[in-house]
Amino acid sequence: MIPTIKWHKNSIRIIDQTKLPEKLSYVYCRNIKSLWNAIKTLQVRGAPAIGVAAAFGTYLGIKDSKQKSYANFKKHLDSVTKYLATSRPTAVNLFWALKRMESAVSNNKDKNIKELKNILFREANSIFNEDRSMCRSLGAYGARLIGKKDAVLTVCNAGALATSDYGTALAVMYKANAQHKSFNVYACETRPLLQGARLTTWELNRQKIDVTLICESMVAQLMKNKKINKIFTGADRIASNGDTANKIGTYHLAVLANRFKIPFYVVAPSSTFDLSLASGKYIPIEERKDREVTHFNNKPVIRNRIQVYNQIAPVGVRVENPAFDVTSHNLISAIITERGIVYPNFKKNIKKVLNK
Ligand code: MRU
Repeated sequence: MIPTIKWHKNSIRIIDQTKLPEKLSYVYCRNIKSLWNAIKTLQVRGAPAIGVAAAFGTYLGIKDSKQKSYANFKKHLDSVTKYLATSRPTAVNLFWALKRMESAVSNNKDKNIKELKNILFREANSIFNEDRSMCRSLGAYGARLIGKKDAVLTVCNAGALATSDYGTALAVMYKANAQHKSFNVYACETRPLLQGARLTTWELNRQKIDVTLICESMVAQLMKNKKINKIFTGADRIASNGDTANKIGTYHLAVLANRFKIPFYVVAPSSTFDLSLASGKYIPIEERKDREVTHFNNKPVIRNRIQVYNQIAPVGVRVENPAFDVTSHNLISAIITERGIVYPNFKKNIKKVLNK
């Protein structure tokens, strides 16, 4: 797997996912403003990867701090975490990572500033390394659910590009593939930003996993013709009753899965759970710019040697663009975590499994 994110010579190196699949290139974030921008514009994306980016970003923001006292250093740290917290609202991994970085400092008030900086660097690396082993564990649990000749559907990108290792939902496929199970994958294109078309098919092709690209509008037809028999998705935030926020379009897949009696699995690490929320109705849903909907792929194309944007709607048309939706817990067959598989009753069993 190509590392999606890593600390590199005093910067955070990330794969620029807005350039894929045309070009594999990197962005080097050397200050928190460029990192904020990279998160906002989805150069780095996917809940776990955003968490890791926020952890390294916190260190990036304070590593050259000139503050001498604990109180002033803490103030500086708080301003960095507060700023990074404004980049994207839905994936809880961002806030989870920032909180861990803050706690690493507030639990070590007796240390000098140099030591505190080292503690923060170590904490960011721990978050990165834990993310890597979490992917392996999710893959191992999830692959048990893949049977011979399965045809599995996934949405958005919950793979290597969304984590520090080989993903969440796609980890299941990578592990099943390593176990020589024969199965095939359908990847939803994922309008409007096409993470499925651009990223998931790119990743799976590189790993020689049998993948077919479809539009979301084709799912019911394929299910009716028995071409899909399981769904695996990632998650951005899971409430304590199991309601799950994930990429817009996930909810309707779950509704269809219910209609056609197909198991619907969510694959997510413990860092994606927000047990402070009683249900999904409290999950903040990011609203993004109209332009992502009115301009296909939002990238310039060359026409008659002129660079133009692919506008597909009349100027000024009213647009809604929620980036995520919430799938009700009663449509979810199981949630695969790095600590085990959670089956309904979610309210009771999430706590049981996460406390392992
Ligand atoms: O807007 P994105 O591309 O960051 O949305 C990502 C998703 O919805 C993923 O499915 C989710 O973060 C899980 S990634 C392992």
